[in-house]
Amino acid sequence: MIHFIGGGQMVEAIIRAILANETVRKDEITVADISKQRNTYLTETYQVTAGVEQAVALKQADFIVIGVRPQDDLASVGAKIREHGRKDAVVVSIVAGVTMEKLASLIGEERAIARVIPNTLTDTGFGYSGVSLNRYATEDQVDDFLNGFGKVMYVEERLIDIFTGFGVAGPNYVYYFIESFADAGVLAGLSREQAWKIVLENILGSVEMLKLTGKHPRQLLDINNSAGGVGINALHELNSSDFAAGLQRSVLKAVKRTTELGLE
Ligand SMILES: NC(=O)c1ccc[n+]([C@@H]2O[C@H](COP(=O)([O-])OP(=O)(O)OC[C@H]3O[C@@H](n4cnc5c(N)ncnc54)[C@H](OP(=O)(O)O)[C@@H]3O)[C@@H](O)[C@H]2O)c1
Repeated sequence: MIHFIGGGQMVEAIIRAILANETVRKDEITVADISKQRNTYLTETYQVTAGVEQAVALKQADFIVIGVRPQDDLASVGAKIREHGRKDAVVVSIVAGVTMEKLASLIGEERAIARVIPNTLTDTGFGYSGVSLNRYATEDQVDDFLNGFGKVMYVEERLIDIFTGFGVAGPNYVYYFIESFADAGVLAGLSREQAWKIVLENILGSVEMLKLTGKHPRQLLDINNSAGGVGINALHELNSSDFAAGLQRSVLKAVKRTTELGLE
């Protein structure tokens, strides 16, 4: 049984993905959100058991997922788990910025804890979730569950904020690039629809080329850039812009903000 404490946006995305991937059955999922309305919505939409008595569900759960926000009453959530959660259950926290040390102090030492930063591409099967385990948890215990909502990358806890600002925020950078690229097509004279189709195909095809050939992007650029041609002229303009450094600063800022939020 998997019990979710909190049934907000991220928990819903996880439930939708694990049901679609048939990682678990509907009758193996319980949810306890403080909002009655939210529980009703989750029950009606996914036919899971939402709105359960916390103590009862905690006693049955093999996985206890803490899905509330960092600013919610984590102390009372921790106390409930400490009191009612089975000692052999794995506690999976998706709460951004809350450290393993803090979690252990709330739910009790000597419990298996997985600190997970879920990706936001859960519906696609793409995207890595970042996962740190404490010494009581093993990859074997959590692998199947976590792979139900994306791919899994195990990282040391000290890398979790970097993983968040770089990896989990990753689709944002890509969306922004796609938007800017499509705008460039429109600026040059294509219709929005034409530009959009070309951009999406280029993105998918370029990723596929990198995977297929195993080549470094620079090698593929070299192949595409003939002497004095279109490609190298376009690249020259990008090279003289702030493109690479701007993107890199943006990632560093996201990492910094992740750490700041954890301290607030
Ligand atoms: N969204 C993302 O992309 C994302 C990505 C990675 C990690 N996360 C993490 O996922 C967690 C949830 O984020 P979210 O975006 O899903 O937030 P959310 O939609 O606000 O979900 C949190 C839910 O928990 C409920 N809640 C609050 N206190 C509770 C309690 N004591 N017991 C039971 N339920 C309680 C809230 O109800 P009320 O609204 O009525 O208070 C709300 O429905 C956060 O810790 C966040 O750091 C989110």
